[in-house]
Amino acid sequence: MITLIFACDEDNAIGKDGDLPWKQSSDLQHFKRITLNKTIVMGRKTWESLPGLLPNRKHLVMSRRPRTDIETISKEEVLELADNEDIFIIGGGEIYRLFIDEAKEIFRTVIHTIVDESDTFAPHPEDFGFYLLSSTFQEATERDMFDMTFEHWLR
Ligand SMILES: NC(=O)c1ccc[n+]([C@@H]2O[C@H](COP(=O)([O-])OP(=O)(O)OC[C@H]3O[C@@H](n4cnc5c(N)ncnc54)[C@H](OP(=O)(O)O)[C@@H]3O)[C@@H](O)[C@H]2O)c1
Repeated sequence: MITLIFACDEDNAIGKDGDLPWKQSSDLQHFKRITLNKTIVMGRKTWESLPGLLPNRKHLVMSRRPRTDIETISKEEVLELADNEDIFIIGGGEIYRLFIDEAKEIFRTVIHTIVDESDTFAPHPEDFGFYLLSSTFQEATERDMFDMTFEHWLR
């Protein structure tokens, strides 16, 4: 099964200047809980934005060019893998759009802000036939910039 997971602002923005537009520790913990010991798929630009390998997850990177630093994979290969295991698409904007039609589930965290001059956006689940199964508001802790809402969408 294919699952998308992302955090967006109230206008669906997910990125700015090649990075996340916020520091949101509670959402990183939520991301870790959901993806730990799973296979994660990401675009080359998201891979380059990470500090390195995320512990205890199998990383697959999408690029149209061969790489030596990390295993790369095509869309067809991701779809084949997803027949037998849970695949988590972790970004960015290009890769969410590439897989949203095949996804069955979305974990979306709405960060309660509107980012100035954001340059990368996620698709809105409702536009692709998903319905909201659950929604949990959480106030910002001292390690978060903003309040947030953890959403779980299904199709
Ligand atoms: N808020 C969040 O939850 C979240 C999560 C992840 C990322 N982000 C943010 O999103 C931004 C990056 O997103 P992005 O849309 O610019 O880039 P991206 O989706 O991370 O990566 C795009 C790259 O993926 C490769 N690619 C795209 N389609 C492909 C295909 N069909 N087959 C093989 N490879 C393919 C290409 O790599 P090559 O150019 O190497 O060919 C392309 O340049 C950053 O700001 C990042 O911080 C936010």
